Amino acid sequence: MIAVPSPRTPLVAMVGGGQLARMTHQAAIALGQSLRVLANAADEPAAQVSPDVVIGSHTDLEDLRRVAAGANVLTFDHEHVPPDLLDKLVAEGINVAPPPHALLHAQDKLVMRRRLEELGAPVPRYLGIESSEGIDELDIFAATVDVPIVVKAARGGYDGKGVRVADDAAQARDIARDYLASGISALIEERVVLRRELSALVARSPFGQGAAWPVVETVQRDGICVQVIAPAPDLPEETAAEAQRLALRLAGELGVVGVLAVELFETADGSLLVNELAMRPHNSGHWTMDGSLTSQFEQHLRAVLDYPLGHTDAVAPVTVMANVLGAAQEPAMTVDERMHHLFARMPDARVHLYGKTERPGRKVGHINFVGTDVADAQGLAELRERAELAAHWLSHAQWTDGWDPHAGDDAERSDEEERRR
Ligand SMILES: Nc1ncnc2c1ncn2[C@@H]1O[C@H](COP(=O)(O)OP(=O)(O)O)[C@@H](O)[C@H]1O
Ligand SMILES: [Mg+2]
Repeated sequence: MIAVPSPRTPLVAMVGGGQLARMTHQAAIALGQSLRVLANAADEPAAQVSPDVVIGSHTDLEDLRRVAAGANVLTFDHEHVPPDLLDKLVAEGINVAPPPHALLHAQDKLVMRRRLEELGAPVPRYLGIESSEGIDELDIFAATVDVPIVVKAARGGYDGKGVRVADDAAQARDIARDYLASGISALIEERVVLRRELSALVARSPFGQGAAWPVVETVQRDGICVQVIAPAPDLPEETAAEAQRLALRLAGELGVVGVLAVELFETADGSLLVNELAMRPHNSGHWTMDGSLTSQFEQHLRAVLDYPLGHTDAVAPVTVMANVLGAAQEPAMTVDERMHHLFARMPDARVHLYGKTERPGRKVGHINFVGTDVADAQGLAELRERAELAAHWLSHAQWTDGWDPHAGDDAERSDEEERRR
């Protein structure tokens, strides 16, 4: 059932019922709103918490119309709505943010890469293949770049699905052919020799206001983000400022409304390349929920509603975010009991769970650690270690450092006694 919106508060509708919509709903509450979501099923993360859920598909025009009806603006928790449907909604007068002509650059990696190049953004060397004839160019490309190559599906990928490293040109051809056979173009690119990955997160409003958060380091394992460090440690100030300027410029040039994440590679010589763009709240911004004056979810709402944007300053010298990824085998211990143990050991853990069933490798939550007292590299290393321990515990019910809660209590007690003496 669709709740009747109060005429006094704006109504934001979001396509997708995942964790991003769930956390946007959380931010909406503080602004006196309630997010309306289009979810595939009633048990999706956002559908569990919003009273205003439309059950339907993001590829069905009628369902999209239903979720947009009466809303001030329609926005997204993922980029999978077919562009032609969005054009239809815009033609019907629906305020879509980001607008489809901007969103296209987050929907199709090949369109994105070409546009980035046109706009003068530094990008990895690449080749686009849109038809089987194009496959012949692959050998020349592979010989020219002379490093291993990565083959990406231009559309539909996420969390490293749709990204494959090819051993040689022949294998790259096979992968590209598979994508083409399912009607998806292929983006072939050099495998960049990375020092690390960074993300520049910004927001832009229709009025044209922009706001940039500190540039963060994102740590990936098997193509999936496992940890974020905000701000990116030891990033030269000039490089950080350059990344922020680039992200704000891209948001303006592409006409983004809402949050824009610019995923970056920092190469061995310290220069930056743009990997890809996302036009929605992004995993690299989850730290802002506890570590910044304005969370990315609130900022996204402010931006799509054309409110003035909030301050993006960090509230502590460093914040570490660790993703909770489902274990290969779901532990026998309940999540409830795991939480008891986690909070007993780490009262400063800021836990955000998405209400998802646990499946191997699935993002089921994240934990933020706000490093108020962190003053040096040693302090950061310890905070990162604690974040990793906490996230692993929450998904696996195992302390990888062998911590024993009872021994741990004793140790703390004797510390306490020590201090008292
Ligand atoms: N050209 C590349 N060189 C090196 N690593 C890459 C390259 N492209 C992707 N990766 C790795 O794979 C991850 C996922 O790729 P990405 O294009 O961001 O796809 P997704 O849409 O799944 O996030 C990146 O964060 C990075 O770790
Ligand atoms: Mg990515």
